Amino acid sequence: VSPKIQAPRGTFDVLGDDALARAALEQQAKRILEGAGYSRIETPVFEATELFARGVGESTDVVQKEMYTLDEGPSESLTLRPEGTAPVCRAYLEHGMHKLPQPVKLWYLSSFFRRERPQAGRFRQFWQIGAEAVGSADPAVDAESILLLSELLESIGARGLRLRLSSLGTPAAREQYRADLQDYLRAHEAELSAEVRSRIDLNPLRAFDADHPGTRQVMEGAPLLLDRLDADDAAHFAAVRELLDGAGVSYEVDPTLVRGLDYYTRTVFEMTSDALGAQSGVGGGGRYDGLMEIVGGAPTPGMGWAAGIERILLASPSAPVAPPPLDLYVAYTGPEQAAAAFRLAADARRAGHSARLELGGRSLKGQLKQADRAGARYVAILGDEGTALKDMESGEQKTVETETVMHHIRTNAL
Ligand code: HAM
Repeated sequence: VSPKIQAPRGTFDVLGDDALARAALEQQAKRILEGAGYSRIETPVFEATELFARGVGESTDVVQKEMYTLDEGPSESLTLRPEGTAPVCRAYLEHGMHKLPQPVKLWYLSSFFRRERPQAGRFRQFWQIGAEAVGSADPAVDAESILLLSELLESIGARGLRLRLSSLGTPAAREQYRADLQDYLRAHEAELSAEVRSRIDLNPLRAFDADHPGTRQVMEGAPLLLDRLDADDAAHFAAVRELLDGAGVSYEVDPTLVRGLDYYTRTVFEMTSDALGAQSGVGGGGRYDGLMEIVGGAPTPGMGWAAGIERILLASPSAPVAPPPLDLYVAYTGPEQAAAAFRLAADARRAGHSARLELGGRSLKGQLKQADRAGARYVAILGDEGTALKDMESGEQKTVETETVMHHIRTNAL
């Protein structure tokens, strides 16, 4: 026997109830997002490596360590998409979507790839539902986008949700702030943990996440980016908050909120669930007003989010999802009826009904058990003596002409 081959680390198969739960989530996303004017977009699974290197940012963990880059020879470098925002911007430019009424609203449900250390809720291939609104800087775009994610999560009953919100202002303000924070950390170096000290140059903002008591105390007095916003950015943030307040969305302003991707400007947010373990981030996003220029377009504002499907489902009660209804199960008593049974099932499908046929060589008893298990509305039993049609709801059964089976199903009468 050859050795078994297993699914690669950090990947999984989608089967049975999980597949049904995902389909139900997709339906909700479609209803909510398309209802708000988003249309579906699919972009390629791989893109030029450059798109992510520039778009997501050379200094991010995603670009430095987590990309699956394909070996395409010296002249081309392709990477499995680690996220969906840079590809959407690429597609916006490629298709001249600036000519459409703005903002252009696009949503996706796609799989993404990051070479991360797998653990509960963290995979190497994972799925996201994402929504991007490109072409308007209006704070109402930010508020509406956030509202749609919270509506989606509420609609499927995700538990223990918390929304954290902040603003990063412009890259220039952030640059200045970073330098000030580094000065502040250096001035308190003796009180900081070794880890935080070693990261002052690389990533000073991480100090806000530290558990170390001395570091925490220092951070209580640290300067905050949110206090340094310029007037326009502060007004933008105030407007977003006012709209969310008006819509009854609860959130916490968290000035220490940092996101793992470099393209954010102004609004950033993250939705977490207490029902999840260490990987508590269900979804997150924000504004990316500089990204279009970074990927080669004219300055164009954008705002969006993505939420991990595996984490949404982990945070939600596993409500039993009903399998699709079955109108007709075609059973037959012997091989002589097999061809007629096959034809009846095919005709039923052609007429728009869902129909299944015995394919496993079961006895009639076994077939009827299958029909019952599948929740068939009607069962047609083709035998030597003709065709019997059974209404599984009423239990009533009648001998009919095979040609009239469809008529009975359609008129819902025996
Ligand atoms: P992100 O925060 O990197 O943002 O990912 C969004 C969500 O994807 C996370 O909150 C999490 O639920 C899920 N996720 C990320 N990595 C993994 C993983 N390894 N395994 C399972 N789930 C994961 C983005 O990707 C941005 N493109 C979001 C965005 C859209 N910002 C603006 N527009």
